[in-house]
Amino acid sequence: MIPDFFQYQCPTKIVYGVGLSRDFSAELAGLPLKKLVVITDRVLERLKVIDPIIEGVKNAGVEILEIYTDVPPNSEVKTVKKCAEMAARHHADGILAIGGGSVIDTAKAANIVFTHGGDLVGDYSGTQTITSPLKPLIVIPTTAGTGSEVTQAAVILDQQTHTKLSFVDHYLYPTLAILDPEVTVSMPPQITAATGMDALTHAIEACVGIQSNPISDGFAMKAISLVRHHLVTAVKDGGNLEARGGMLTAAVMAGIAFDHSLVGVVHGMAHAAGGLTGLHHGTANSIFLPWGMEYNLETCPEKFAEVANYLGVKKEGRAAIQEVQRLQKELHEACGLPMTLKEAGIDAGLSLKGLEYMLEAIAEGAVNDGTSFYNPREVVKEEVLVQVRKAYG
Ligand SMILES: [Fe+2]
Repeated sequence: MIPDFFQYQCPTKIVYGVGLSRDFSAELAGLPLKKLVVITDRVLERLKVIDPIIEGVKNAGVEILEIYTDVPPNSEVKTVKKCAEMAARHHADGILAIGGGSVIDTAKAANIVFTHGGDLVGDYSGTQTITSPLKPLIVIPTTAGTGSEVTQAAVILDQQTHTKLSFVDHYLYPTLAILDPEVTVSMPPQITAATGMDALTHAIEACVGIQSNPISDGFAMKAISLVRHHLVTAVKDGGNLEARGGMLTAAVMAGIAFDHSLVGVVHGMAHAAGGLTGLHHGTANSIFLPWGMEYNLETCPEKFAEVANYLGVKKEGRAAIQEVQRLQKELHEACGLPMTLKEAGIDAGLSLKGLEYMLEAIAEGAVNDGTSFYNPREVVKEEVLVQVRKAYG
């Protein structure tokens, strides 16, 4: 079905190549920058993932002014402020972000304050709050999941209110995304599995959501197919560059898909569980994915049949759910990725009554999450709770 209205925009230039992160001088030459600040994290610094990248940038004649390595796993307002101050102090021409979703989101948000000044939370949280273009932002993703390298959103934790703030604006698209499978080989198997399932969830939710359209479907369906072919290999054989490249591409294509069609109840449950328990985003999505699909199956069986087709099984909605469960099991056996909330240990220290309260709070959180607006079926607490209980195990 062709919707009455849809639009597509992804201004980020995407360049893929094995080893490309060590020398992307041709790309740098096309950008108006001579001096950069770098934002990354301690793990990548310790593993020396960033060293050849920095070396290559310097060899291209671009000065590295300072490297900020203290981005935490969940990007925070105070970290964003420090990064913006660093870039401003040096009068940098732009920012280079090397890392996963947290690093890239930190760099996106820092670039707002660095370019335009003002207060991150007070002036810019929300949607379409930026009035003119930002400084160039180059991103090199080191995980394959969030898709932040090609989206117009950043999510930042406000430590004072314990809430996650969203920044959504078409000026937030990175200028250039360098996709190099080599920089993802240091990712451990369970993180590879969890982030890969996040990408699969983006693709499936973009495909079945109410905002889906033929262009986002094209990106989503190919992403599903790439996950099917490459995720298990990337988990079991981390040095396999073809599998790593397949997953980097899957994450980007799923990112473009959900940047246009958004996500639904699976992310709603995952956001709630993550907020309440600290459960890793990709792990949470992996656990909730089949149950969110179950919740929506009868609303759009034809879309789930398409998903099944790209997962390589019988073109029928329920087969898609069964295939996701089979994949969950295979990943569990390969690297211990939890299949249930119970396995993930969310009930640690809770009484039976406390656990019931927690499961209800997850269902309630899914109803109140912004993603519920885009889910194909109305998100109703009692009915979501049925699926949350199944996800508990
Ligand atoms: Fe996600």
